[in-house]
Formats: sequence, C-alpha cells, structure tokens
Amino acid sequence: MSKSKPQYVAGAAMFSSKRDDWATPPALFAELNAEFGFTLDPCCKVATAKCDKFFAIDRGDDGLAESWQGETVFMNPPYGKSVSTWMERAYRAAREEGATVVALVPCSADTGWWHEHVLDAGAEVRFVKGRVRFFQDGRPGGHAPFASAVVIYRPENIGQAPSLGSIVQARKRAA
Ligand SMILES: C[S@@+](CC[C@H](N)C(=O)[O-])C[C@H]1O[C@@H](n2cnc3c(N)ncnc32)[C@H](O)[C@@H]1O
Repeated sequence: MSKSKPQYVAGAAMFSSKRDDWATPPALFAELNAEFGFTLDPCCKVATAKCDKFFAIDRGDDGLAESWQGETVFMNPPYGKSVSTWMERAYRAAREEGATVVALVPCSADTGWWHEHVLDAGAEVRFVKGRVRFFQDGRPGGHAPFASAVVIYRPENIGQAPSLGSIVQARKRAA
C-alpha cells in the first residue's frame, strides 16, 4: 500500500487514519447540542467549527493553550497520540475552569488515557451504537473502523466518582 492511500476501507467508502480533521456528522452534533447547548469548539478548522466561539488551527489558534473558563465545550479532538493530551485538558477544564466538556472519542478502554482521564476522572461515558460516519470536506466518509464514545466531564462531579478503573487498580494493589 502506498503512503498516500487510506489505511482503512469500509464498504465502498474509505476512512484515512492519517488525517486528524475528520468532522463530526451534523446529525450527531445536533443531537448533543440540543441536550447541552455548546458554546465552544476548542479544536477545529474554520470550516468545521461547530460553535460561534472556536479555536481553529488554520487560524493560528491553539485550543489547548486557550481558556475554556465556564464554557460548555464540544470536543472532537484530533485522534492519535495527542488524544491523551486533549482528554487531560478536558478534565482540567472541568476541574479548574468550571467547564462542562463533552468529548467524542474512540472507545479505547485498553489505553492509559482512557484509564487516567476517563475512568479515574469520574467522567460519564455513553457508548455510541454502530460506527460513526465522520465527514471530510463537507461530505460523509466511510464508517470509522473503531467504536466511539461520548465522554462527559461535569464540573460538579469531576474526580469524585470512584470509577471501575480505580477500583480494579485498588484491588490489584490490595492483592
Ligand atoms: C477531529 S477534527 C474535529 C473538527 C470539528 N471540531 C468537528 O467536530 O467537526 C479535530 C480538528 O482539530 C484541529 N486541531 C489540531 N490541533 C489543534 C489545536 N492545537 N488547536 C485547535 N485545533 C486543533 C485539527 O486540525 C482538526 O481539524
């Protein structure tokens, strides 16, 4: 397979894991937005911004470094190694900046970031049924080759719930 070819093929359409700018399907965003009423998209391009207030990489913004103070944030972070940094940023935003953050991420229950920044953070997790069809250049691409989850950080209960992850770790320590 040549370097320029997408890595994953799903049916007739394709999903390239090499790009980090797959956009949230409008219907999925609309459903969550109806529930939460988002005020900030911290990681996007100008063309894929989901809120009036946004931090876009192609405008020279760095959403990780900006304030999320008091915002209701919709975060579909760039996937790959940096997802851990974004999830840690989301956790800090809820704990220290009073932000509610709703993150659309791959279900990665075997990773360190899932255990540290989802389970041990006391975040709420909703598993998405089926595979998300992310958008590219305004059009739907192939179905993602991974399951997705919506992870919710609420300032009022962040870090408080003893998660299954921490219970398992505590049991391991006790054994
Ligand atoms: C998975 S896409 C999501 C786009 C959009 N928020 C959405 O939900 O449709 C993540 C986007 O974050 C951008 N990005 C990466 N690092 C960033 C940074 N430090 N600040 C702002 N945006 C960033 C990427 O270029 C990419 O366009």
